[in-house]
Amino acid sequence: MNILVTGGAGYIGSHVCLKLLELGNKIIVIDNFSNSHPGVLSNILKISTNNQDLVVFKGDIRQKNPLDKIFSVYRVDVVIHLAGLKSVNESTKKKSEYYSNNVEGSKNLFKFMRKGNCKTLIFSSSATVYSSSEKMPLTEDSQILPNNPYGENKKYIEDLIKDLFNSDNSWQIAILRFFNPIGAHKSGLIGDNPIENPNNLMPYILKVASGELPNLFIFGNDYETHDGTGVRDYIHIEDIALGHVKALFAILKKPQLIISNLGTGVGYSVLEVVRTFEKTTNQKILFKVSNRRDGDVSVSYSDPSFAKLAFNWEAKYNLEDMCNDAWNFKLNNIS
Ligand code: WQD
Repeated sequence: MNILVTGGAGYIGSHVCLKLLELGNKIIVIDNFSNSHPGVLSNILKISTNNQDLVVFKGDIRQKNPLDKIFSVYRVDVVIHLAGLKSVNESTKKKSEYYSNNVEGSKNLFKFMRKGNCKTLIFSSSATVYSSSEKMPLTEDSQILPNNPYGENKKYIEDLIKDLFNSDNSWQIAILRFFNPIGAHKSGLIGDNPIENPNNLMPYILKVASGELPNLFIFGNDYETHDGTGVRDYIHIEDIALGHVKALFAILKKPQLIISNLGTGVGYSVLEVVRTFEKTTNQKILFKVSNRRDGDVSVSYSDPSFAKLAFNWEAKYNLEDMCNDAWNFKLNNIS
């Protein structure tokens, strides 16, 4: 198949591209490289030994030109839509930039899909669409009520996609709600490598472990959790990538719209992540406790059972694997 991956040079995109490439597909990447490195794409090709069929377009999905070109040159069979700004906290400060990149970008992409008669779509949604007052674990039927602009964008795009399907139910769509992807590919060649100062926990821990940053700030230790720090469902990036492949195989069977969590079902606190990282990598992580961060919820973890039922996927890796693989990636990429 010809598979267009928006945001294909990003953290999730690079791992998804690799898996789909290794299965013999042609991969077309569109990325504006706003928070990713073009070098990632040559690293994907270094890992993929059996298939090098990957083309890259530098461009923004809000613009007409790159999409016009892609859809006129290639018969696009599938779109995996991962492009977007992704920091919960930044979204509270740059609301319109987030709306423009995430919502308007998606609208433009869907317009080109309709025009190019491509009706197979996987969209990266997020656990942040759920209400912060829902009881845990979160199922796909839990209340949708985002409490930050990033989550609002994701909800908005989910609704656009539901409209697409309701007006033409020959589409084949999976909306995947990711929890907290961390870890890296075993090779250490691709991983989470943000250009800007990291917002997310694991990239920050890695910079403390490598000595690039003096200490971690733990955002609040007064949450109603067992140790007071925020709890999340951390999931290995390789599990996330395989989730895309399995969801794709499932939707290709018949027209449908599936909405599924991608999580492990287990919640870990910030302190537990720090301690596990220290134990598995033998690195000391100095930290200070600071105020809660705007937009954060106290606890978020998934009920992953629907994904098992719908496309026979479940997470395989544990937190130790995630810490080890993330550290291996960092050791290979110390700037
Ligand atoms: C995790 C925990 C922080 C940094 C992410 C993505 C978002 C979406 C959902 C999928 C929280 C704490 C963090 C730090 C800290 N993913 N923390 N110090 O906010 O859950 O959001 O998952 O689509 O795209 O960004 O992840 O890694 O930022 O935070 O104490 O320096 O770590 O408060 O409890 P978050 P995160």
